[in-house]
Amino acid sequence: MTVIGVLGGSGTVGRVVVDRLTEYGLGRLRVGGRDLDRAAAVCRAFPQATAEPMRVDLHDPQNLREFCTGCDVVVNCAGPSYQVLDAVARVALAAGAHYVDAAGDLAAIDALESAPPPELDERAAVFSAGLMPGLSGLLPRLLATGPLARLDVYVGGAARIGELSAVDALLTRGPQFGTALAVWRDGRIVPGALAPLRAVTLPGFRGRVHAWPFLSVETARLAADLGVGELRNYTVYVTEAIPRALAAAWADGGPAERHVPAVVAAADADIAATGPYYTLLFQAVPAPGQPAGPDRPRRLLLQTPDSYALSGVVAAITVGELLEGRIKPGARAAAECLDAADVFARLTGDPLVTAAELH
Ligand SMILES: NC(=O)c1ccc[n+]([C@@H]2O[C@H](COP(=O)([O-])OP(=O)(O)OC[C@H]3O[C@@H](n4cnc5c(N)ncnc54)[C@H](OP(=O)(O)O)[C@@H]3O)[C@@H](O)[C@H]2O)c1
Repeated sequence: MTVIGVLGGSGTVGRVVVDRLTEYGLGRLRVGGRDLDRAAAVCRAFPQATAEPMRVDLHDPQNLREFCTGCDVVVNCAGPSYQVLDAVARVALAAGAHYVDAAGDLAAIDALESAPPPELDERAAVFSAGLMPGLSGLLPRLLATGPLARLDVYVGGAARIGELSAVDALLTRGPQFGTALAVWRDGRIVPGALAPLRAVTLPGFRGRVHAWPFLSVETARLAADLGVGELRNYTVYVTEAIPRALAAAWADGGPAERHVPAVVAAADADIAATGPYYTLLFQAVPAPGQPAGPDRPRRLLLQTPDSYALSGVVAAITVGELLEGRIKPGARAAAECLDAADVFARLTGDPLVTAAELH
């Protein structure tokens, strides 16, 4: 029987991965984390699953090898991803498993490809299998039914930020991750081209919001793949508390961990302001001369009350695609190897999706 290891299966994202893998009936589960009791509690919460808890610290190589041995797929939901990079992927691949990471940016893929393990000829390592990165680079592809003059991406809302994600938000800066205020135009990154949109209204977002331009590596690759004339990518906040907390931390310097409480508190303040919700909004402008029609959608909107949980759904769907043999061997980003229409259809039927529009 297929065995799927969920590293970090007792965390916010990992629990949902365990839940959906159980619901999809994809195999026996091994739920790992440093705290065996937490992992065991997750297994007990899913009595219908054949799930066993296992104590594992990803920083202990022998321990990690034991966790991965016997797995057909290892899903990583432990972090912070700037620290994990390709470390778990290498051990999983060497143990004969495919690999899925709910996080991990291009930096992780680059790290794996810099000295590719021979197993990558036969197995896949899929990174960024979450919401952002993940759906943010996948779903806009549904709007590319013909040449596009422009694509606007807005992702954000009010969501709790976990401590691991806060560390990632503080540390995953620089050209390997993206460029603030930049736009993609005519085949290249143009720095400093955009300004923040303050107190604007946007479809699918509550009240007035603040949209901060950040051309992530994921969206720059998307723009290049689709050949769009211009791509603007915004992170949307319901107040300016998070960008202020991040700016203060970067100005102050020092260890990222010191600034985690301020980032977590800023996210909590946002939730208090609007209630929890997260929206992905993509708007396309076709190139001149492109015909309009129902088969040529111009806007895609997806909303969820819980962005972390939805990341878990994406990771679980990715596992299913791998086991079905629909993802080729090699190191890839989820946005570049999943089928956008298929994933959108599946998300439309998921209880964590409260709005899904494509028109
Ligand atoms: N792509 C996206 O859109 C997206 C969205 C949300 C989150 N994420 C990413 O997903 C990851 C998980 O986030 P989360 O909020 O679910 O975190 P979380 O709630 O803190 O859960 C972390 C999990 O990893 C385990 N863990 C932590 N350190 C470990 C270690 N050294 N060895 C083994 N297990 C370890 C924890 O269990 P123990 O403490 O018992 O070890 C727990 O099960 C983060 O990297 C985050 O950035 C991605």
